[in-house]
Amino acid sequence: MKILVTGGAGFIGGNFVHYWLQNHPEDQLINLDLLTYAGNLETLKTIETLPNYQFVQGDIADRDTVFTLFEREKPDVVVNFAAESHVDRSIKDPESFLRTNVLGTMVLLEASKAYPVKRYHQISTDEVYGDLPLERKDLFFTEQTPLHTSSPYSASKASADLLVQAYHRTYGLPVTISRCSNNYGPYHFPEKLIPLMIIRALNHEKLPIYGKGDNVRDWLHVEDHCRAIEKILKEGKEGEVYNIGGHNERTNLQVVKAILKTLDRPESLISFVTDRLGHDRRYAIDPTKIEQELGWKPRYNFDTGLQQTVAWYLSNKDWWGNILTGEYREYIKETYTV
Ligand SMILES: NC(=O)c1ccc[n+]([C@@H]2O[C@H](COP(=O)([O-])OP(=O)(O)OC[C@H]3O[C@@H](n4cnc5c(N)ncnc54)[C@H](O)[C@@H]3O)[C@@H](O)[C@H]2O)c1
Repeated sequence: MKILVTGGAGFIGGNFVHYWLQNHPEDQLINLDLLTYAGNLETLKTIETLPNYQFVQGDIADRDTVFTLFEREKPDVVVNFAAESHVDRSIKDPESFLRTNVLGTMVLLEASKAYPVKRYHQISTDEVYGDLPLERKDLFFTEQTPLHTSSPYSASKASADLLVQAYHRTYGLPVTISRCSNNYGPYHFPEKLIPLMIIRALNHEKLPIYGKGDNVRDWLHVEDHCRAIEKILKEGKEGEVYNIGGHNERTNLQVVKAILKTLDRPESLISFVTDRLGHDRRYAIDPTKIEQELGWKPRYNFDTGLQQTVAWYLSNKDWWGNILTGEYREYIKETYTV
């Protein structure tokens, strides 16, 4: 099989490329990535010379690039991870989010229709459902929960999902969509909560937490996410949406305290900063459908998964050290004003 992965130099896409090549060495994998600030080829160093792996630098929103690639490679399966993915950046610059996340998805759908694929899989997010009240622990997002977005990022992802469903209904394109909760694990760009806090704690720097730190996120190890996508590609039903999550709800403050404990750093490093605009309160996925219909279950427990992730950052300082450029430091200062 020939699989086209977009955004494979990013966090989840990069983990998926490793996962797929390890578990399906008979397949050919093409990775199309623009290499924005979030893309890092260092993540793929150990596999870049494999004969069944090919990297193509290019923009999913550029029709010529995408159609030329499809004409040449005629992939059997497309998995679209490529996206502008950071909520804070979407608040400052919504336009690039609409271009990549909406227009880029449409270009990939068009190409998948013109050069018929066996499956087009869209990587979406639980953020398309909006948020849940903190005090209603009984509520969870199911696949039937209405789309109700909060940020330009989630609005762009929801728009892309609607397009994917329209291409199924209108043109019969064999699509699937997965909506996953927050991921953590190796190769996570250090502007996101967990790697940001690990690296700052290691450097004895202040740890900026939005508001009171009581926002709740539902954490899933990235390898469990990759395994769920594999299940959907192999056994998922065309036209269906699958929620992916592992019932690992934690407040941001709990996560940061757990990191400090693992690294033996004092809680006095925590510094509460002005809350994010429109900050979602709680995300919580109900994964019953994927568990019952496809027999998927997460293998990682959050506490041990987090400890392993901290250990990964400790032994891969070169990977993240190279990212901590002046531009990146400037961005963190502007965003969190610590
Ligand atoms: N990180 C999470 O916790 C999470 C949770 C649920 C869903 N998702 C979704 O998973 C996907 C991957 O997320 P991530 O955290 O790995 O993101 P990321 O920001 O780490 O990686 C995105 C990748 O896409 C590439 N890219 C950006 N614009 C592109 C374009 N126009 N053309 C080609 N490549 C482009 C970037 O270079 C980067 O390599 C996204 O679609 C995101 O919405 C993420």
